[in-house]
Amino acid sequence: MNELVTLSRDGDIAVITIQNPPVNALSPGVPEGIRSSVASAAADPAVKAIVVIGGGRTFIAGADIREFGKVVSGEKPRGSLLPLLLEIEDCPKPVVMAIHGTAFGGGLEVAMAGHYRVIAPGAQVGQPEVKLGIIPGAAGTQRLPRLAGVAKALEMCAFGEPVSSPDAVTAGIADRMIEGDLLAGAVAFAREVAGRPTPKSRERDEKLRGADPAIFGSTRQQARKTRRGQTAPLAAIDAVEAATKLPFAEGCAREAELFNQCLYSTQSRALIHAFFAERAVSKIPDIAKETAVFEIRRAAVIGAGTMGGGITMNYANAGIPVIVKETTQEALDRGMATIRKNYANTVKKGKMSQAAMDERMARITPQLTYDGFNQADIIAEAVFENMALKKQVFAEIDKIAKPGCILASNTSYLDIDEIGSVTSRPSLVIGHHYFSPANVMRLLEIVRGKNTGKETLASSLELARRMKKVGVVAGNSRGFIGNRMLTPYLREAQFLVEEGASVEDVNGALYDFGMAMGPLAMGDLAGLDVGWRARQEFKHLEKPGVRQPMVADRLAELGRLGQKTGRGWSKYDENRTPSPDHETAALVEQMAHEAGIERRSVSREEIVDRCIYALVNEGACLLGEGVALRASDIDVVYLNGYAFPSWRGGPMCYADTAGLKNVLARIEEFRARHGEDLWSPAPLLVQLAESGGTFASWDRTREIAAGA
Ligand code: 3HC
Ligand code: NAI
Repeated sequence: MNELVTLSRDGDIAVITIQNPPVNALSPGVPEGIRSSVASAAADPAVKAIVVIGGGRTFIAGADIREFGKVVSGEKPRGSLLPLLLEIEDCPKPVVMAIHGTAFGGGLEVAMAGHYRVIAPGAQVGQPEVKLGIIPGAAGTQRLPRLAGVAKALEMCAFGEPVSSPDAVTAGIADRMIEGDLLAGAVAFAREVAGRPTPKSRERDEKLRGADPAIFGSTRQQARKTRRGQTAPLAAIDAVEAATKLPFAEGCAREAELFNQCLYSTQSRALIHAFFAERAVSKIPDIAKETAVFEIRRAAVIGAGTMGGGITMNYANAGIPVIVKETTQEALDRGMATIRKNYANTVKKGKMSQAAMDERMARITPQLTYDGFNQADIIAEAVFENMALKKQVFAEIDKIAKPGCILASNTSYLDIDEIGSVTSRPSLVIGHHYFSPANVMRLLEIVRGKNTGKETLASSLELARRMKKVGVVAGNSRGFIGNRMLTPYLREAQFLVEEGASVEDVNGALYDFGMAMGPLAMGDLAGLDVGWRARQEFKHLEKPGVRQPMVADRLAELGRLGQKTGRGWSKYDENRTPSPDHETAALVEQMAHEAGIERRSVSREEIVDRCIYALVNEGACLLGEGVALRASDIDVVYLNGYAFPSWRGGPMCYADTAGLKNVLARIEEFRARHGEDLWSPAPLLVQLAESGGTFASWDRTREIAAGA
């Protein structure tokens, strides 16, 4: 009993309530409060049984993740939850855990130490620790297979996905679903079981016995494939396997050993960084929480191409009726057919019902005119990437849109302020930069022009939430955050090929680093014409005499556009499987020779360092310029928009892990070899490396908040 955990009575039933908002994490004080409450209730002769419940929106969402950093840095010793759980389990009176919201991680471990579990219909249970690079650390890997069986426990501990309450009951994790008032139902259940034996999950072994030993190998194989590069899923499998081979106490000791290995790994540091980075991203220092947001009831999209179609689906998915406009019937039909095909595929995979698809399709109105645009609360533009066209479209829609309607552009590189300048409402103009495929990728870059109003920005963040996207605010700089950094990354990938690495070397080194695909494979997937077009738009800005990549543009001009034409950097068969293209290799050699580039052997280490540090250095430039608010925002962009390996935490976190002094030293080497114009270290990187700082510790947001 303390301010975080209260003990009360409902007749002969003791009720222990955890009150640690927002998610009842097991922060210091909570385990102590549970321990003393259980002890008091056990000692009270008037109490026949005990209910443990979470106050507010949830049961216990797990250990307090903020504490892990303090343990790893040596600031605090690691306190184990296990002794408390054994005390709960040894309580002579039945303990009923009443679950609503989420019982995650240490929360589910607490729940499994109770003698019975009741659950609300919308609740979820899970062991999501692997998503933080760790494994359950308080007997989760030992109790879960005893309650739910080895297969279910492996699935939950190795992959971290939550289980809904009906499934939790079916699996044996919960004993009963309680419709209606959970506390009242839990108290009634506790009266039912009062005086009955107190079954201990640690003593059960009937579900351990029938396990097929082959399941561990197949789950490891699956984890290596779907969680490539990650160590925690494999550790979780080892721990569950230990439950089948060792007595409970020894299994717990093995789990603790594996937990510690994971906790002190750079992977868990990176994944915990990513967890908090994603939650920090929507906090904009000069946008107060109470900033008004415009209600978005109707939307309109211009362009039903690759991006416009996906954006239209995002609105329809969020329950917002949407008009989509094209210039020709043919383009409109093509766009609508793609939308229909995408939904139908989801239905086919069993991830959406036909009725839900029909409902979404019914929200979409395809047309060739601006009819109804004057009713829209937001108009999203996704026409070709061309400034003159975008300005023409914005001038047109500004005349039609109602006052207060937001005008959003999906431009990849163009200046939002210039686009907004042709309208009478620059404060309502903003960039909404989605990532392809727009209906799938979680990232939305929200580009704040110099005139973009605070309400427009706050409304955009709210819209991102409604669309279940992660919205990252970026300043108005060419390519914003993600694409601006991508330019030097792709440049280096091409230079490395010109200098002697093969296409397969470059793609392979970055794939092995953990990227979903290599940079040249990414170019082939997007289409080499896309980059070619962007480079034409900005050719006038190239500094004369500075080396430019040559080959991608030549491939594009030869009509070798990548996957869609079957040839690009690589050759593709009808299943889009790549193989080396000897003609491309010969073209590279010839162009390098003509340009006087010395060919040499290039190590994998150089490939990774040049590509990734090009990302980092550009990230540091835009951070210093204020294009990104925090280094962690850049990481969120790369983790969610470019499939950077989550277990490396994003490029800026990766640089912090490598040590900024080391990163700077390597960039200085590249400068010495390739020149100032290509490899000028970012001033912020120099400053932090010299002062022993990190990107994570550099926080501009406080300064902005103070000035706001
Ligand atoms: N520890 C500390 N803070 C936590 C937390 C935790 N376990 N879980 C959530 N928070 C914080 C968030 O950082 C956020 O803080 P902010 O408002 O200052 O940004 C706030 O709580 C609300 O979180 P969300 O914005 O994520 O709220 P949602 O309602 O969208 O989601 C949730 C709630 C599903 C519980 C989600 O927060 C979540 O998945 N949390 C992590 C759960 C988890 O991983 N648990 C396992 C921890 S490790 C463990 O238990 C080890 C054990 O085996 C010993
Ligand atoms: P796309 O070529 O697939 O589609 C553009 C569509 O706009 C075409 O169907 C065209 O008919 C239509 N259009 C042109 N003018 C129009 C007008 N006045 N009214 C209505 N429709 C009009 O192009 P894509 O790839 O969808 O790109 C659109 C925008 O999104 C560009 O600004 C691009 O830079 C950006 N973008 C593209 C990404 C990609 O991966 N393709 C990723 C993120 C942004």
